[in-house]
Amino acid sequence: MNSFDTSLSPKNIFLRDRVLAILEQYTCFSDATVLEVGVGCGRWASLLAPLCQEYDGVDTNPERLAMAREIGLDNLSLYLGTGEALPVQGPYNVVLYMNSWHKMGFDSTLAESVRVLSPDGIILIEEPTDRSSFLDPKLVSGNPEYDTKMQDLRRGAGYLETQTQVDLVENGPFDTTKQYWVLKRKH
Ligand SMILES: C[S@@+](CC[C@H](N)C(=O)[O-])C[C@H]1O[C@@H](n2cnc3c(N)ncnc32)[C@H](O)[C@@H]1O
Repeated sequence: MNSFDTSLSPKNIFLRDRVLAILEQYTCFSDATVLEVGVGCGRWASLLAPLCQEYDGVDTNPERLAMAREIGLDNLSLYLGTGEALPVQGPYNVVLYMNSWHKMGFDSTLAESVRVLSPDGIILIEEPTDRSSFLDPKLVSGNPEYDTKMQDLRRGAGYLETQTQVDLVENGPFDTTKQYWVLKRKH
């Protein structure tokens, strides 16, 4: 099973702060209720939950959720479920997809995200770029695993740029290996 470093290492603090800088443009993060869809073993939960009011995480993988539970923060709640049919009601000021968006069915996932989003809330999606180590450098075009991952990433990015339920208010690269989108509900 894939497991991530959840410590407050200099690298994680750097990654946390560049995400926080974006979130704080749109919300007062210390007052925010946050949902992370595809929370995994809680890498981002351990970095962000201490800084907000409430942090809920949903994931399909019970083993990863068990690891996330070990973080043991009072304001962290974890649920087994899918992004396509969220087991939570919200409302959330922030809904996060940290490297998980490409794994989900886009239409139902976005509809669910909008359902649980507070009226002025934001959705932040972070995804690997096609230069990410997530795309194992040993894999090359023509390899079915590589091609499927590339297709998923490109489909996800294309979808976000054309869908109609939310406005795309900001997007860009974090660096060569990570990109992001910020979305708000259309009013
Ligand atoms: C690459 S991991 C990212 C985990 C975490 N967000 C992070 O950045 O460390 C993607 C996570 O999405 C979860 N996932 C996959 N499909 C999902 C779905 N349909 N609904 C919710 N979570 C899903 C996986 O179990 C996995 O934990």
